[in-house]
Amino acid sequence: MLAYYIGLMSGTSRDGIDAVLTAIGDGRDARVIAHHHRAYPASLAMDLAAAVEQSELSAVTAGTLDARVGEQFARAATELLRAEGLSPGDVRGIGSHGQTLHHAPDAEPAFSWQIGDPFRIAERTGVDTVAMFRQRDIAAGGEGAPLACGFHAARFAQPGHDRAVVNIGGISNVTRLPPDGEVSGHDCGPGNTLLDHWVRHHRGCEYDADGAWARTGQVHPELLQTLLADPYFQRPPPKSTGPEHFSPAWLAARGGPTLVAANPADVQATLAELTAHAIARELVRPGNAPEDVLICGGGARNGFLLERLAIALPQTRIELTDASGIPAEQVEGAAFAWLAFRTLHHQSGNLPAVTGARGPRILGCVIPGG
Ligand SMILES: Nc1ncnc2c1ncn2[C@@H]1O[C@H](COP(=O)(O)OP(=O)(O)O)[C@@H](O)[C@H]1O
Ligand SMILES: [Mg+2]
Repeated sequence: MLAYYIGLMSGTSRDGIDAVLTAIGDGRDARVIAHHHRAYPASLAMDLAAAVEQSELSAVTAGTLDARVGEQFARAATELLRAEGLSPGDVRGIGSHGQTLHHAPDAEPAFSWQIGDPFRIAERTGVDTVAMFRQRDIAAGGEGAPLACGFHAARFAQPGHDRAVVNIGGISNVTRLPPDGEVSGHDCGPGNTLLDHWVRHHRGCEYDADGAWARTGQVHPELLQTLLADPYFQRPPPKSTGPEHFSPAWLAARGGPTLVAANPADVQATLAELTAHAIARELVRPGNAPEDVLICGGGARNGFLLERLAIALPQTRIELTDASGIPAEQVEGAAFAWLAFRTLHHQSGNLPAVTGARGPRILGCVIPGG
């Protein structure tokens, strides 16, 4: 029987919340019915950026941010319900990713911390809410990420077809869907996070629309090589990362005097090339590039970035998930609707081959809405 599920997602770009209403039957399908984006208020975006860049955070600051982000997530959901004329009884569940404050799969002990108080979401919407998806996978020895791979496989795999799905958010991640054999996936490295930082710093805008500024620059080969020398790019999977690693401080430290001396537009072009290379090298890692790649995430709207990716992968057809029925910015939100479906049906949500967990696990905790 078809039922409605809502996914709530805010990624490492920290641009705001994508609320995605989906209709799911047996879990092998997930049709997107509606989408609502709620941008974070500027003051909250600023406070989140400050919190992510700080390694020491007071309990008061963390607790307050958890409540503020939780209210924004709850609003994103209630606004979507209102816009669609739905009452709580019409929706079986909400899956909320929350906002990552810190992702540390390599720390001892490992952890990944998402905020956005889910009790407020359940209270304001009256809908059963699933949250804290990453923690169980980490407890089982996994990276806790990426978690969208199961959904990518359920929704986009095609029998007999060698395909990959690439999500270009703040960080980029790939899901490999081979014609036969196991689904694999991991984080590639930076997606938009360094591009956003550099254009914000030099031009005062939130992102480099369509990559227009990067297009005016020339790739700086020496800078590119220095950045690509980071061991993360060499590391075999399972692996996941975040803006705590690929941060403005990382760029300054890696780039050193070369970065300081370079023309800012050339740096932007080089950062776009870095993102394209980081993705392309993960796609050829198993030996051969896939026949086609479906792109999702906000980076799908960066035409320059997609051109660079096409040059790096000459044998591969590159298209947006839009052509397969889900607009690029709605895929990750839809994945968390699907993950809520899985949990509420007592089905596992992680793929051990992807995260490195000891086995499949039912993810998250359920907060009753009624
Ligand atoms: N028109 C556009 N041109 C270039 N980049 C864009 C465009 N629209 C969105 N983006 C990029 O996509 C990012 C948001 O992508 P998103 O998938 O929401 O990431 P996350 O999952 O990390 O929140 C923005 O920060 C920006 O870098
Ligand atoms: Mg986003």
